[in-house]
Amino acid sequence: MKKSKLSKLDRFDTFFSLAKQRSVQILFAVGFMYLVLVTLEIPFVFRTGFSTLSQEPLTRLPRLASEVDIQENEAPTRPLSSVSRNASSPTRLQHQKQLRNQSGIVSNLSFDAKSFEQSAKDGSSELHKSAKLAWEAGRKLWEELESGMVKIDSVNRLKKPKNESELCRPSVSLSESEFLAHGQVMVLPCGLTLGSHITVVGKPKAAHAETNPRIALLKDGEDSVMVSQFLMELQGLKTVDGEDPPRILHFNPRLKGDWSRKPVIEQNTCYRMQWGTPMRCEGWRSKADDETVDGQAKCEKWIRDDNDRSEESNATWWLKRLIGRTKKVTVDWPFPFTEGKLFVLTLRAGLEGYHVNADGRHITSFPYRTGYTVEDATGLTLKGDIYVHSIFAASLPTSHPSFAPQRHLEMSNRWKASPLSERPVDLFIGVLSAGNHFVERMAVRKSWMQHKLVKSSNVVSRFFVAMHARNEVNVELKREADFFGDIVLVPYMDNYDLVVLKTIAICEHGGRVVGAKYIMKCDDDTFVRVDAVINEAKKVNEDRSFYIGNINYYHKPLRSGKWAVTYEEWEEEAYPPYANGPGYILSSDISHFIVSEFEKHNLRLFKMEDVSMGMWVEKFNRTKEVEYVHSLKFCQFGCIEDYYTAHYQSPRQMICMWDKLLKQTTPQCCNMR
Ligand SMILES: *[C@@H]1O[C@H](CO)[C@@H](O)[C@H](O)[C@H]1NC(C)=O
Ligand SMILES: *[C@@H]1O[C@H](CO)[C@@H](O)[C@H](O)[C@H]1NC(C)=O
Ligand SMILES: *[C@@H]1O[C@H](CO)[C@@H](O)[C@H](O)[C@H]1NC(C)=O
Ligand SMILES: *[C@@H]1O[C@H](CO)[C@@H](O)[C@H](O)[C@H]1NC(C)=O
Ligand SMILES: *[C@@H]1O[C@H](CO)[C@@H](O)[C@H](O)[C@H]1NC(C)=O
Ligand SMILES: *[C@@H]1O[C@H](CO)[C@@H](O)[C@H](O)[C@H]1NC(C)=O
Repeated sequence: MKKSKLSKLDRFDTFFSLAKQRSVQILFAVGFMYLVLVTLEIPFVFRTGFSTLSQEPLTRLPRLASEVDIQENEAPTRPLSSVSRNASSPTRLQHQKQLRNQSGIVSNLSFDAKSFEQSAKDGSSELHKSAKLAWEAGRKLWEELESGMVKIDSVNRLKKPKNESELCRPSVSLSESEFLAHGQVMVLPCGLTLGSHITVVGKPKAAHAETNPRIALLKDGEDSVMVSQFLMELQGLKTVDGEDPPRILHFNPRLKGDWSRKPVIEQNTCYRMQWGTPMRCEGWRSKADDETVDGQAKCEKWIRDDNDRSEESNATWWLKRLIGRTKKVTVDWPFPFTEGKLFVLTLRAGLEGYHVNADGRHITSFPYRTGYTVEDATGLTLKGDIYVHSIFAASLPTSHPSFAPQRHLEMSNRWKASPLSERPVDLFIGVLSAGNHFVERMAVRKSWMQHKLVKSSNVVSRFFVAMHARNEVNVELKREADFFGDIVLVPYMDNYDLVVLKTIAICEHGGRVVGAKYIMKCDDDTFVRVDAVINEAKKVNEDRSFYIGNINYYHKPLRSGKWAVTYEEWEEEAYPPYANGPGYILSSDISHFIVSEFEKHNLRLFKMEDVSMGMWVEKFNRTKEVEYVHSLKFCQFGCIEDYYTAHYQSPRQMICMWDKLLKQTTPQCCNMR
């Protein structure tokens, strides 16, 4: 009798754990779908979120969005004496006479204004116009820089912050009215530090009917859904003008749930305007084998039942305690946020991540993800269906963090580029980078650019950077270029839409200056397995032309939204087959063709450099057939095991991946961000 009851209970248990497993599987399936859709760039309608947010992560974003402006307040104070003037030059000696500027770091791409006065017949007239302006402005800036006219009074800038509001304060508190007056932002002038904590006293608003299909997933026959959700974000406010601040921590409780219709807390980061993989807490405690953050689970459990069972559950809890039948009493807590009920939320910066407690109980922990440090978190915003009563931030850093690049640049001879040798070069890798990406470039230098093939100059790799709008950045960039000898400056004012000029400069430099057999293009957040990439190129028959990468066939331009492509810019229905921008390889005959077409003013330009490349290769293919080689191992959306290239890798991940590559036999990813 007793036994059968027990086994019934057992079965009941297994049923539940099965049900749980099932839902986990479903979750995975949904997650996978999400990834697929994101990579296919299909606007994803049933993701719940704030309309502006749910759109952004899903659409094509221009590459090279610069992130935190590490130059923000103070300019460099690095002693100049440490910069060796006779650092290895990036160009081959016999070519030096050809270079007009003695520093030898400027691209030799010939660019006369005439080449940008074409008629508008191929729809790129706007692009040509802005290229012409950008080139003129960039040239001028570079000349000023070369002549030493630009001087940054670094010492003074460092000593006195320009503005009272930029002084560090150990604690900050805001009342409701002050918070609203500040535009729902709490400024943390010097960011956070280990142990800093922020407490928010607030109250979720009652749910409202939401009809926007981007926010609420409407089921058949419904025209609105009740939604109550709010958003707490740690942002890096010190960004470049005109760019959205990076979201260092995005914490989004959805009280009425989203597609699951169960309350959920979604957390994420947005690095270079690109959202990471969301971490969703749905009321199940993280599995025991899951990674912990400072020893705490990423997600805690809460009651997932819709009916308010809280009375019953605390009654059972009392009963269990009184009777003492079970030693292990599990107490179920409801979802921490309820409409109209006051909560006290505390966010704390730990050693490994952020910890969130609500009403004294731990609810989530979020591991640090991006290349940001806690001191980059200079603002807290709270938006959505919430009344904020007050916010307190304390244990804040008391000294101004140094955003100066010398903190990131390691001026050691170890990381300098090797001089070009007389031996033929197999592969040239051009890395697109932005002026203020000092950290990213340093991570590339210290990771895959340490490959023995690069060190021995069998493979040559250079960064392609344009002029930055801020002169402090340019001054620092020039020093960096002089020291490391691995930067090719394409002297135009940097601009998302003109990245395509850097691609042409890569073809020019790789083909003519370096004389490499194969030309590769990647970004400064691409991790490259140099030997694997060369092997791919060598698989193609010597006398054939090739285009290797993660190739998109029949892709159509996005015609609406923030990043829409107009019919003036691209009138055809579909793009030509093109390899994704973060990593592709060409045979050098194609790159020579591109440069000479450019010089003859025959090259059609389009603002997406990868699509442009697809177009040029298609043109080349008309005279000599090109072998298109498609491989998913040139991973576009992140990293896969046994990758050739991995994308969206933060500086920390770059170093981690390099360590793994040195130690392990099969190439593996680093999943922290
Ligand atoms: C720099 O150049 C000087 C002479 O031009 C030479 O004596 C010195 O060894 C060089 N230093 C390095 C690091 O190459
Ligand atoms: C650098 O190049 C520009 C344009 O090509 C030229 O006008 C300028 O004189 C050069 N500067 C030096 C110092 O050679
Ligand atoms: C680039 O190099 C070629 C020689 O390879 C030279 O003839 C040409 O003048 C250079 N162009 C520029 C813009 O310096
Ligand atoms: C200080 O900065 C704030 C915001 O950044 C600005 O509104 C204010 O005008 C600045 N004050 C001075 C004296 O520059
Ligand atoms: C049980 O829960 C209800 C509602 O959540 C609460 O009002 C009551 O005080 C709780 N009882 C005990 C003994 O905690
Ligand atoms: C390349 O040229 C070949 C032969 O001319 C043709 O069959 C093929 O479709 C072309 N490929 C592309 C992508 O245009």
